[in-house]
Amino acid sequence: MLRHSLLRSSRALLAQSQSRTVAMARRAMSTKATATHFTDHALSHADVDADPKTLDIIDKHAKYTLTTYGRPPVVFTHGKGTYLYDVGQREYLDFTAGIAVNALGHSDPEVAGVLFEQAKQVVHLSNLYYNIPAGDLAEQLIEATRASGHFQASKIFFSNSGTEANEGALKFARKVAKVTTAQQLGEEAVNKKIGVVSFTNGFHGRSMGALSATPNPKYQKPFWPLVPGFAHAPFNDVEAVDKFVTDETCAVIVEPIQGEGGINVATEAFLKKLRQKCDEVGAMLIFDEIQCGLGRTGRLWAHQNYPKDCVPDMLTMAKPLANGFPIGAIMITDKVAEKIVIGDHGTTFGGNPLGCAVASNVFRRINTPEFLDNVNKNGQYFREQLESISSPLIKTVRSKGLILGLQFNVDPAPLIALARERGLLIITAANNTIRFVPPLNISKPEIDKGIKILKQAIAAFDDKTLDVKA
Ligand SMILES: Cc1ncc(COP(=O)(O)O)c(C=O)c1O
Repeated sequence: MLRHSLLRSSRALLAQSQSRTVAMARRAMSTKATATHFTDHALSHADVDADPKTLDIIDKHAKYTLTTYGRPPVVFTHGKGTYLYDVGQREYLDFTAGIAVNALGHSDPEVAGVLFEQAKQVVHLSNLYYNIPAGDLAEQLIEATRASGHFQASKIFFSNSGTEANEGALKFARKVAKVTTAQQLGEEAVNKKIGVVSFTNGFHGRSMGALSATPNPKYQKPFWPLVPGFAHAPFNDVEAVDKFVTDETCAVIVEPIQGEGGINVATEAFLKKLRQKCDEVGAMLIFDEIQCGLGRTGRLWAHQNYPKDCVPDMLTMAKPLANGFPIGAIMITDKVAEKIVIGDHGTTFGGNPLGCAVASNVFRRINTPEFLDNVNKNGQYFREQLESISSPLIKTVRSKGLILGLQFNVDPAPLIALARERGLLIITAANNTIRFVPPLNISKPEIDKGIKILKQAIAAFDDKTLDVKA
């Protein structure tokens, strides 16, 4: 009934995959048959054994929410540390951390306390007025970044998300170029320097500007035409830089470690070349550290793993900054700040006292030598465990701290369900890669537990895949 009425509705196409999942799961649960090729009642977290409430909740989503994600038939109600719990109280080990967001794990008591206390004071004011937490957070971020001796940031602009941080950084780069071009070549030349260069397998967000810098046809094509002036160069290709970054380039945006693109670590030579070329042509170099920054690599910023001349003019951050409360930021040098004036950019929610108070707490706890040292040690340990997995389908391991990729020589997408139905949450990235971005305070026993489940899932994946191939 539900399925038929959904298919008849004007939203049917978008809801189709979600309702199909529901219908399949319902059928499987009632007949106790297997829902998919890989599903098995013997598994501890089998989709077909989900609490029936799960399907009612998914039905509601299918009816009322727009389907832009293919989601499994699991509904989480709460979490604690590295664990999440579904409506049936089944426990899952979470190696995704909300896609590199919950750096301090789920339901952190200190974060909950700060949220509660700040919410009792004031939640939101708008940027018409000053507030105390935003000033404190800006000071913490700038001073800690400067103290590293790498990026000499001087000002910050708060946004609500990573995409908005990138969008703002791209706008700032265009403004800097317009001001300098007008000074050097006159007003009539201001539109000459509008080019933005980004890189293959990069991901910078889904708004029109950020999407224009994200050269994945799957994301871009349905929305063409995008913003003019964007070009995409090959990542880590030092020689290609001279061809793509020209006098007409106002910005180069790059992730020092690509997350969504498959955990690809930029080479030192590549970042150095970008810095040198941007200086040569007067372009702003933007490091997108939304996924790889804020302690994920075992340093405060990912670029601190490189020599001190590998620094940006602007750095964007978001995901873990407030451990799941939405916030983003653009950190910029004086060179940029002095070209931005009142009215150039704005936001209603960005820099709100609630988000900034939480972020201050999170940042203070992440940015300690002990915490970062632990990320390094556990990252190394995690990597060794991944390297110990033997499977003819595994190609290689790539990592820096606790952002890790396990690349296969076939599409590993079925592994997501194979792991989840054994109680482990993992995600994919591009290029046949499984991505691991667990909470940064994950423990060794939790890594061991996850690796044990992962090995079982990979063994099942090997069996199914090699069976099919044979
Ligand atoms: C490197 C990078 N940049 C930008 C974004 C977009 O951030 P948000 O989803 O917070 O808008 C993401 C999100 O995955 C990201 O990984």
